[in-house]
Amino acid sequence: MNRIFSGVQPTGNLHLGNYLGAIRNWVRLQRDYECLYCVVDMHAITVWQDPAALRASTREVTAGLVAAGLDPAKNILFNQSQVSGHAELAWIFNCVARLGWLNRMTQFKEKAGKQRENASAGLYVYPNLMAADILLYKATHVPVGEDQKQHLELARDIAQKFNGDFGVEFFPLIEPLILGAATRVMSLRDGTKKMSKSDASDYSRINLTDDADAIALKIRKAKTDSGVLPETPAGLEARPEADNLLGIYGALADKSLEDACREFAGASFSVFKEKLVERAVAELQPIQTEMKRLLADPASIDSILRSGAERARAIAEPILKEVQAIVGFLRP
Ligand code: TRP
Repeated sequence: MNRIFSGVQPTGNLHLGNYLGAIRNWVRLQRDYECLYCVVDMHAITVWQDPAALRASTREVTAGLVAAGLDPAKNILFNQSQVSGHAELAWIFNCVARLGWLNRMTQFKEKAGKQRENASAGLYVYPNLMAADILLYKATHVPVGEDQKQHLELARDIAQKFNGDFGVEFFPLIEPLILGAATRVMSLRDGTKKMSKSDASDYSRINLTDDADAIALKIRKAKTDSGVLPETPAGLEARPEADNLLGIYGALADKSLEDACREFAGASFSVFKEKLVERAVAELQPIQTEMKRLLADPASIDSILRSGAERARAIAEPILKEVQAIVGFLRP
């Protein structure tokens, strides 16, 4: 049976990019697969996190997932640190993965930047923990964005080397699941930059906690160019803002970029933006309302995570026991 695993970091607020790029796909997958979705608080602390903010973000991300339609009874939704097997398997993988493999990880290079000597050791072995997340459940399919593909290849290498070193066929080979036309949502202020929770301007992104007025205002203020909307996507590379807004519209309306262009061919941005506001509010406002309701009752969120962790542990424990036996750990 196919088992899906994916993770999301509890750092800062969820925005439209997270929603269209990941969350919405996760919600769609729950129909056909057994899915585990993990709020990866242990990955988050590879860079400094204020403890109170980490707690708040863990609850906020959980609330966002549930509000967006992820059913916590059908899926296993939990935070990583509650299942100690992640750390235990990650240690074993620290001893399987090679320094040379980790040295090639572009995300480490980007995140550590010039401060390499000052980066945490955790940031360096981040991909080993990610491999442990997935393989602790022998998950086969992992929905991720483009930026995580290299980490998944490393997880495959770890699984393969583990199997080879110990002469077993234990871990499955992981398949990345890049769903649909990868929706790359860009900043509303600059169509060449990714929409990001760390952008200084809140006008650059639509947060899942934004109400209808905020969504409308941000879309109306979004940067455009002086042209009208094109008939076809040809030429959109040179018009990053038009490309981004049409892409967002298409994603929200479940239409291809071609169809979105056809619908608005020759229209002004102001006409198009009103339609985009309508779409965005219709889809996002119910999520925002539900998120607010859930966040008003943190105990209910904690209880979702607690029961998710219990169910995750039930799958993980026998797998971890087998791994420990394979490695030669004596557990009389
Ligand atoms: N590294 C992923 C990200 O930043 C999050 C993540 C952690 C993850 N563990 C995972 C994703 C396991 C998929 C599977 O987006």
